[in-house]
Amino acid sequence: MARTPIMAGNWKMNLDHLEAAHLVQSLAWNLKDASHDYSQVEVVVVPPFTDIRTVQSLVESDELSIRYGAQDVSIHDEGAYTGEISTGMLNKLGVTYVVVGHSERREYHNESNELVGQKAKKVLDAGMTPIMCCGEALEIRKAGQHVSYVLGQIDAMLANLTAEEVAKSVIAYEPIWAIGTGEVATPEDAQEVCGAIRNRISELFDGPVAEAVRIQYGGSVKSSNVREIMAKPDVDGALVGGASLKADEFTKIATYLK
Ligand code: 13P
Repeated sequence: MARTPIMAGNWKMNLDHLEAAHLVQSLAWNLKDASHDYSQVEVVVVPPFTDIRTVQSLVESDELSIRYGAQDVSIHDEGAYTGEISTGMLNKLGVTYVVVGHSERREYHNESNELVGQKAKKVLDAGMTPIMCCGEALEIRKAGQHVSYVLGQIDAMLANLTAEEVAKSVIAYEPIWAIGTGEVATPEDAQEVCGAIRNRISELFDGPVAEAVRIQYGGSVKSSNVREIMAKPDVDGALVGGASLKADEFTKIATYLK
């Protein structure tokens, strides 16, 4: 079964709800203008929590095919967890994807692989799809240990997931040294790690699960480098930061096949 490429824009802590409405409308308009076939390349925006209701209203009222996600989620269902957002709350807002374990959450909020795995499980239990992030820091890359490091993250994140759950998940390989730095991994770098992740999933589960799971690359993806990265066999999409904040640029990324 062929995997549908998925282009997701992680807005991080950018854009208020008014700016969000503007960006989603511009993006939808651009994609319509380009006769974008959403069944060929899925397009996802991942705004801050405060924008999600606005994005939902637009998507529903204008019957847009753009999907939307959240940048994080709690492992708790409800209660005294100040500042946290539950999977139930996101579900009610029509959220399809939830990013878990972004390197910025790992670094600034001390999130462990085990916690990220728990978050992924919560997301799946709620009927949504996790985008599970992994990736190495520069020192690890320089020491030549990036593949084993990332596979360690994968083993820990997937430890409590079933084969069916992994098959419908998305994994994002984002080398930390390439995030927001303009320093993009070469297509070969991206393929090396994405291919190793798929191999590991085939060992941990089986071939069909490995064939089904979608693996994104993230880190300084732009319209000028997306094609060569997407040409690699084990790269099924991109998790895009900075370049997803501009409608024209993200449109070019989503329509990279044209
Ligand atoms: P940039 O595309 O800005 O490098 O960010 C990548 C990223 O972290 C997406 O989650």
